Amino acid sequence: MMRSSKAAAPLFMQLGFRLFSTTTVRTVINEPANGILTGFLHGGASGVPVRTSVAWVRFPVLGVRNESTLAFKEEEQEKNVESVSAGGLAKHPEEKAVVSYWGVPPSKMMKEDGTEWRWNCFRPWETYKADLSIDLKKHHAPVTFLDKLAYWTVKVLRYPTDVFFQRRYGCRAMMLETVAAVPGMVGGMLLHLKSLRRFEHSGGWIKALMEEAENERMHLMTFMEVSQPNWYERALVLTVQGVFFHAYFLGYLISPKFAHRVVGYLEEEAIHSYTEFLKELDKGNIDNVPAPAIAIDYWQLPPDSTLRDVVMVVRADEAHHRDVNHFASDIHYQGHELRESPAPIGYH
Ligand SMILES: [Fe+2]
Ligand SMILES: [Fe+2]
Repeated sequence: MMRSSKAAAPLFMQLGFRLFSTTTVRTVINEPANGILTGFLHGGASGVPVRTSVAWVRFPVLGVRNESTLAFKEEEQEKNVESVSAGGLAKHPEEKAVVSYWGVPPSKMMKEDGTEWRWNCFRPWETYKADLSIDLKKHHAPVTFLDKLAYWTVKVLRYPTDVFFQRRYGCRAMMLETVAAVPGMVGGMLLHLKSLRRFEHSGGWIKALMEEAENERMHLMTFMEVSQPNWYERALVLTVQGVFFHAYFLGYLISPKFAHRVVGYLEEEAIHSYTEFLKELDKGNIDNVPAPAIAIDYWQLPPDSTLRDVVMVVRADEAHHRDVNHFASDIHYQGHELRESPAPIGYH
């Protein structure tokens, strides 16, 4: 029995760590944990206080996770030190210095007007003024079989969205952005893995595609300020994301040339949708409400901007995405890899 319990101790200690610990526990009880867990499991000399110590450490950590992602207050840290000390760590005062690594404070930013920068999802240097002079009519004529397949795939996909949303362009924009932010992330991720596998640079394409995904997500964060999805729209997003993510992932693995072309045509459709959105705003069928604060900061818009101004800059973004993806597809068409042509990083 003794032998088996001794043999099992390391295993239980491993399990103990997995079951009871998070970063805090690991940090706090690093070496003394041997004593604590042994006491806990075997009812050793440490006895009750040790058991109390393990249980205490576990739940407050969960509490902190649920309540705060940014601030682990000093008082709480001090409280942790005292309680852990009471649980048997007082013999190792040097352990008190590091109680938790939770909560790396974000750097504080100020806006030009002296107010605090309120967005953690992007910082002032990531904001930009959209290039509204971009050609919105540019169209890649599908000539090859693969291009025609990409073109008609997008046309067919557009049909159900037209039926579902009709002229509710605010809602349509919000829902389509949940899809539009997927290809950049999938393409960027696959290029990232390829770069690791082959020990080679990506030519900046990982960053360019990730930037696209982030930019699309900002479109979503903006539109959700002016249009709230209801329960069946949320359910639709879940379903569509599940299908589209896997389809695009597979498509990109099989033919990045085709995948980028599909996105190029999707972006052409997005330009069309936003043009219709603008027409509805101009006709007065959609209220031209003030621009959300996030949009004003992200696109460096004047403070009195409206939804119309936001749609204008988003449409310009879509035109840039169209160019990037048709360009990426063209590189593959010419028999090259993306890394051979430097990516248009920061092309918005
Ligand atoms: Fe978008
Ligand atoms: Fe886009």
